[in-house]
Formats: sequence, structure tokens, C-alpha cells
Amino acid sequence: MKGFHLVQFTNDELRILRELRERFLAGTAGAADYWQSPDHLELYDSTYAERIGWKWDAVLDELDLRGWHPRTTRVLDWGCGTGVAHRRVLAKWPRFTAANLHDRSHHASMFAAQKTRREFPQVAVTLDRPAVTPETLLLVSHVINELPEAELDHLLELARGAGEVIWVEAGTHADSRRLIDVRERLRDTFTPIAPCTHSARCGMLTVKNAPHWCHHFARPPSAIFQDARWADFGKEIGIDLRSVPYSFLVLARTPQMPPGYSRIIGEPREAKGFARVLSCQVEGVADYILQKRDVPELFRAVRKGTLEPVYRWTLADGKIVAAEPLASDAGML
Ligand SMILES: C[S@@+](CC[C@H](N)C(=O)[O-])C[C@H]1O[C@@H](n2cnc3c(N)ncnc32)[C@H](O)[C@@H]1O
Repeated sequence: MKGFHLVQFTNDELRILRELRERFLAGTAGAADYWQSPDHLELYDSTYAERIGWKWDAVLDELDLRGWHPRTTRVLDWGCGTGVAHRRVLAKWPRFTAANLHDRSHHASMFAAQKTRREFPQVAVTLDRPAVTPETLLLVSHVINELPEAELDHLLELARGAGEVIWVEAGTHADSRRLIDVRERLRDTFTPIAPCTHSARCGMLTVKNAPHWCHHFARPPSAIFQDARWADFGKEIGIDLRSVPYSFLVLARTPQMPPGYSRIIGEPREAKGFARVLSCQVEGVADYILQKRDVPELFRAVRKGTLEPVYRWTLADGKIVAAEPLASDAGML
């Protein structure tokens, strides 16, 4: 695992990690630049940012499954921090020749630029004013709860000029709801590519669905569970490393996926002999019952945590009686 040695954290490192987390959780991180030293950036990059990278891995895997790939050639990483978002994207799609990094903290964007130049010498890295063209893939990662309204408005204006957007946030109710608002505001300009299976108004916005939120769970690499430093990090900071909830939104100018598919939200809730699946489709967001006796293989997949994200259901009285996973060649575009 990159950046990890079998040395555990010093008290000073733990203090920095705890302070950062308190700011993120308290929603006070937007108030001022918190990148106070190179140690802050290094520590963040090898812990919180790495964990964010697992969410990006899940998002990029889902785009593969949907048969979607970007058409653009430049990325803009807005609020880049140490740069995990654009590095995951550059590693995934070699088509990108330029990366524009933007952060209100010059220390952060410098850190990100140095690391990216080292790892992707073929990519032209710039720290100019953030700019977009239809050739730009805009990346936003874990910034939304640091932005006052006016800043978010400004970012959405910028987004309208981009060719494509991939936006990943924490899996909290509040951040998912903010991202749903972004979707609704940008729906006149872009097609929602994922997690959505349709371009209609978000089904989470009905009164009935107010308690729910559009979130998903990434799988951390199994190696971290044998890694003493990750174990120490989880214990000392109080993070359950098995659970990596996230929300995300991918927008493009390409057509929507073929009709008839549903996206599973969160994790199915299992009971004796059946599970409740919160499912999103063009008709709305609804709970469907998945009975072991109707679809034993699917029920087994619920238990093993190996369900696919996207299915075409056959329903009878609100029960799933057959399911066809999206195959990447059924997909898009
Ligand atoms: C939680 S960090 C996330 C960093 C990185 N995107 C990631 O996913 O690891 C949020 C970043 O947004 C930056 N930020 C906060 N408000 C900003 C603003 N108004 N304009 C630009 N960057 C901002 C912070 O400096 C910080 O680097």
C-alpha cells in the first residue's frame, strides 16, 4: 500500500488527523484554509484521501459497468486538496493530456501538482485560474460542505461550461441532498449518467422519500485489513474502515442509458427469508421486496454483499421475481 510503512502514528500526527476530522465533521472546514503545514497534506494524502480514493475506484468501476467513458481530454480538479481525484482519473483513462488544479490553498495545489507531475510526467499540469471548455472533465471531490451558497453558485456556473462532470461526496444525508440539488440545477445542461438510470426529476425529492438519501458503499482494498497502520488509524480516529459510504454524480452531454433499468440505493436490509431493496428508476424511488424463494441467487448475493449496482427488475406486486444485471455492452453510447 503506497505511503504506508509498519510504523504507527506519533501523537503529533494523531493530533493533526483528529483536528482535520473534527473540522470536516463539524462543517467548519469552509471557514479558513486548514492546510497549515506539509505534514497536514502528507498525512491527509495517505489516510483520508486514500479512503476517498476507494470511493473514486467504485465510481470509475461503475462507469465501466455502464460502458461509459469520457470524451474530453483535459481535467479540472476543483478543490483538489492533495489531488486524489484527478490522479485516480488519470490512472484510469490515459486519454487526458492536461490537468488544471485548483484549490483556495496554494499549499494544497502545489502539493498535488508535484505529486501528479512525478506520477504522470506525460500530463501537462497547470495551476492557473480554473477554466473550462467543452474539452474539460470537471472533477469535484469532498468539497460541497465547505462551500457557502455563493461559492457553490459560482462553481455550478463554471460546471455549465464543462463537457463532463464527475462529482464525489461523502455518503451523508446532508451531502447527498446537496448533490441532488446540484443534479436538479444542472439537468437543463447535462444528462445524468450515474448513479441515475434516467433524466427525470430525482425521485428522492418526494415527501415520502425525505428520510432517504442517494448513497452507496465502496469496498476498501482487502490488503488494508492486514495493515497495522490502517488498523491504528481506524482505532485512533474512530473510523470503521469496512464502511465507506459515498454519494456521487456523473454528468455528460451523451444520451441517457437504455430505459428500464434501476439503481440500488444504499444496502438492502435483510430479514428472515427476504430483503428490502431501495430501488431508483424513472417511475420513482421505492422499496421492493426480494424473497429468497423467488430469486435465491440474488438473495445469496445480498448476503455476500456482491449485488451489482444496476439491474432490470421483473416485478410482481412490489416483489422482485427476476433480475437482469446491466452488462457493460448493453450500456451506453
Ligand atoms: C476535504 S478537502 C478535499 C480535497 C480533495 N478534493 C479530496 O477529495 O481529497 C476540501 C478541499 O476544498 C478546498 N476548498 C474549500 N473551499 C474552497 C473554495 N471556496 N475554493 C476552492 N477550494 C476550496 C480546501 O482547501 C480543501 O483542499
